[in-house]
Amino acid sequence: MTQATKLIDALNGTFGCHKSFRASHAKGFTVSGRFIPAQTNAGVQIPLLQSEQPVAARFSVGGGKPGISDKSPTVRGIGLMIGGASEVWSLALISAPVFFANSAQQFVDFLAARAPDPEIGGPNPEKVKAFNTANPNTVPHQEYLKSTSPCRCYSTERYHSGHAYGFSIDNASVAARLVLEPTAGRTGLTPEELAVFPDDFLRDAMTLKLADGPVCWVLKLIVANAADEVRDPTVPWDGEHREIVLGTIEIEDLDDGKESQLRVFDPAHLAKGVDAPGDKVFALRSAAYAESKSRRTE
Ligand code: HEM
Repeated sequence: MTQATKLIDALNGTFGCHKSFRASHAKGFTVSGRFIPAQTNAGVQIPLLQSEQPVAARFSVGGGKPGISDKSPTVRGIGLMIGGASEVWSLALISAPVFFANSAQQFVDFLAARAPDPEIGGPNPEKVKAFNTANPNTVPHQEYLKSTSPCRCYSTERYHSGHAYGFSIDNASVAARLVLEPTAGRTGLTPEELAVFPDDFLRDAMTLKLADGPVCWVLKLIVANAADEVRDPTVPWDGEHREIVLGTIEIEDLDDGKESQLRVFDPAHLAKGVDAPGDKVFALRSAAYAESKSRRTE
């Protein structure tokens, strides 16, 4: 059995198999827009991002259940393809600043601890507690979600890479995480809204926003300080950091055709000038996304 098969089996084991849906981030919709470069980017050498580029994107709710509520306390995601025929940079970012696992085994164990217990009809809290005690590095991700109200619209969500990519800035090599900062600011649902909102509202909220014009995010590098952990996407970076604005992502239209839904935001598609993150999780992603694609198109 390949590593990718194990990872997708773990997702299917906890969330179920749902024909033609992604094994993770199953619920979502696709959109299109463009990338507009910043006037100055402090000497970051990524040729693709020196000019305006088309963008294909997909917003999603984390987990492998296509019917999950838009109010659920899990991550929100954005898949991005920046560029066109000659070069594309593909990214998949989440609303939590850090990821929930730093290895294949931890990914599988995290999911196994949350698999539905037939006697309880949901995850067994004792198993979750035992997993968290044995894997304290996974807790910051869970704490973030517990303390952050789900977004009111995908346009008011912040998205993070978790991984630290390699960049060349003024010919020096640096490691940096990526953040998409919503220009409208981040807003979560109030307790009153959580009580009355339906389980499906994120698509309608985006349709309404787009009727008023594009929705925008600033794409930024958060440059690692010397003390930061750059090979473990579960570890938060505390304190002040140098930030470099690469440009703006503007989402302009819903683009929900079948072909768009079939896209794979394979993180291994890097732009020239961007080096792959050195952590173990990044190395797992491309094959896992391909395995999920092959199962959803069977
Ligand atoms: C062991 C590591 C990981 C595994 C096995 C994994 C697995 C998957 C799979 C199977 C999919 C569906 C792919 C498809 O059918 O196209 C997916 C989608 C996604 N993943 Fe991951 N993932 C991992 C790490 C991450 C990390 C570190 C992030 C971000 C910090 C992330 C963010 C996303 C997002 C946003 C999507 C939705 C993309 C879309 O809309 O198509 N994943 N993941």
